[in-house]
Amino acid sequence: INLSVASKGGNVTTPIAYGLMHEDINNSGDGGIYAELIANRAFQGSEKFPSNLDHWTPVNKDTALSLKKLEKPLSKALPYSVNVKPSQKKGKVGLVNDGFWGMDVRPQKYKGGFWYKGAYEGDFEVSLRSAITGEVLGKKKVKGDGKKSGDEWIEKKFDLWPEKKGRGSNNTFVIEWDAEKVKTDDGSLDLNLISLFPPTYKNRENGLRVDLMKALEGLHGTFFRFPGGNMLEGNTLDTYWKWNETIGPLKDRPGMAGVWEYQQTLGLGLIEYMLWADDLNLTPIVGVYAGLALDGNFVKKEDMGWVIQYALDEIEFLTGDPKTTKWGKVRASLGYPKPWTVNYVEIGNEDWLAGRPAGFDSYKEYRFPMMYEAFKKKYPHIQIIASPSVFDGMVIPEGAAGDYHPYRTPDEFVKGFNRFDSLTRDNLTLIGEAASTHPNGGIGWDGNLMPFPWWAGSVAEAIFLISAERNGDKIIGATYAPGLRNMNRWQWSMTQIQHAADPALTTLSTSYHVWALLAKHIIRRTLPVDAPSGAPNFNPLYYVAGASAKGSRIFKASVYNSTEPIPVNLKFEGVPKGAKASLTVLSGPADPYAINDPFTGVNIVKEETKIVKAGEKGAFTFSLPALSVAVLETLDS
Ligand code: AHR
Repeated sequence: INLSVASKGGNVTTPIAYGLMHEDINNSGDGGIYAELIANRAFQGSEKFPSNLDHWTPVNKDTALSLKKLEKPLSKALPYSVNVKPSQKKGKVGLVNDGFWGMDVRPQKYKGGFWYKGAYEGDFEVSLRSAITGEVLGKKKVKGDGKKSGDEWIEKKFDLWPEKKGRGSNNTFVIEWDAEKVKTDDGSLDLNLISLFPPTYKNRENGLRVDLMKALEGLHGTFFRFPGGNMLEGNTLDTYWKWNETIGPLKDRPGMAGVWEYQQTLGLGLIEYMLWADDLNLTPIVGVYAGLALDGNFVKKEDMGWVIQYALDEIEFLTGDPKTTKWGKVRASLGYPKPWTVNYVEIGNEDWLAGRPAGFDSYKEYRFPMMYEAFKKKYPHIQIIASPSVFDGMVIPEGAAGDYHPYRTPDEFVKGFNRFDSLTRDNLTLIGEAASTHPNGGIGWDGNLMPFPWWAGSVAEAIFLISAERNGDKIIGATYAPGLRNMNRWQWSMTQIQHAADPALTTLSTSYHVWALLAKHIIRRTLPVDAPSGAPNFNPLYYVAGASAKGSRIFKASVYNSTEPIPVNLKFEGVPKGAKASLTVLSGPADPYAINDPFTGVNIVKEETKIVKAGEKGAFTFSLPALSVAVLETLDS
């Protein structure tokens, strides 16, 4: 196939072509990227997931644990605590936490803390131990408050540096003390908010797992869409993601009944999301609650006032002046005086899927228009994104954009290659979630998702992304979703990254490699491609070309529907004979269903980069294998 790329024409693309999306699904927040090691650290509960003692056991048979709702709780947000009572006032007493399917223990600094209530005149000992052998991998004495302890809750903080690495992650955390030195009537102590963090990414307090953030770094994203996803909406009208309950000290965060079948701590809250964006240099796309619950209930028009104000307040909290705005002052009081910049806000999540009784679409009729008007007035510079897109039947008002979430079969992605060509700049579109989820010819949404991203599905995603990049002036950007999955409990199998407690088990799916490659080479201006000798309909070679910010020429291509390699002869106008380019090709095994299996850790994606030279007529010649994804970028602009 002969292709010739012009040096002029085309369009300037939007500045955030690729990004990340995160919501707490698949234990990707609690038990995932949020680095807390203690599971059920504050006995948080909800109507759906009542408080309990899961993950906690007594240190020995002489100790009893019970869940208590004390008259004097640690805080309003954390009404439950654990009462630890020995059967006799002698010996050791304490409790054990088994973590989120184990804990990774190695010689490094762990930072922890807990609160206790009750008169105690001794010290505590905290330790990390093997759950299999009981071996102590590291321990530390934590001084008690002696006579000062009594009826008030006391906070203890500690560092713990194990001498040994655990074999595997089947390890536990233990707090122990001396029963005879407890001076309460019944010999018991109450504890709450027991927390332990390993070193975190960029050493943030209450921060994120280093290995997972490093894996995300490798995706070369430029934007970050959060906090959902379905999580934003909540299952019912009173269980949406309440941003104001995710800020401030952990003892003031009540948690929430997650929509993905587990209670969430909300330790990973609004500020932590913004720090995540800062640390990876990502532009935030903040999803704000828009009055729709997953059960289909929605806020009535006459009650929309608080929903609108709540969303405006959230943006004021993030961006408001620390001295003159109400919410900016609150942010400053929490230690973040410097306002963040927010240029993108999405109103709701997938609001086209529910909230439409008998054909009446509450989002189109009043929820979106009311919120859009309010935002335009208070934050005219912010790009507002409606949660449906034109592809979901949404008419996007002037100045706004839509969000498109295709979860598709590979063939659907490939057949729809032209879908964005008819967009105009009046219907700017974010691809806020996308993935190949079902096999060709399969049962679609009536059946399960595929168990893992698979090679042909990932290649089809590349073709979909190329179709978006060809319209990069109208597509705001694209992100895979969901990004992360804890292999011990998950609800959604198609993810870019899989993880467990042990960082050695963090694995990258086939789709990770495809998205990372495409995002690494950013086209800032598309350039027209002439295909005089074939492939105007792109089958089997799908491609886009353009120039980077520094002027190098970029060509991205993918081969689908071919059993043979495709020879390519690629000429860039103005690029002379002898010019050099790097060519990276991703290919897979013959089996289109091949996966990166996290249980073996084998990566089936073959990545080859070589330097190629423009030949006689200034053309780069190379061949792309069947089912492959490739990027060529010239080295001299
Ligand atoms: O990405 C998983 C879910 O898919 C999201 O929560 C939701 O927005 C979509 O339907």
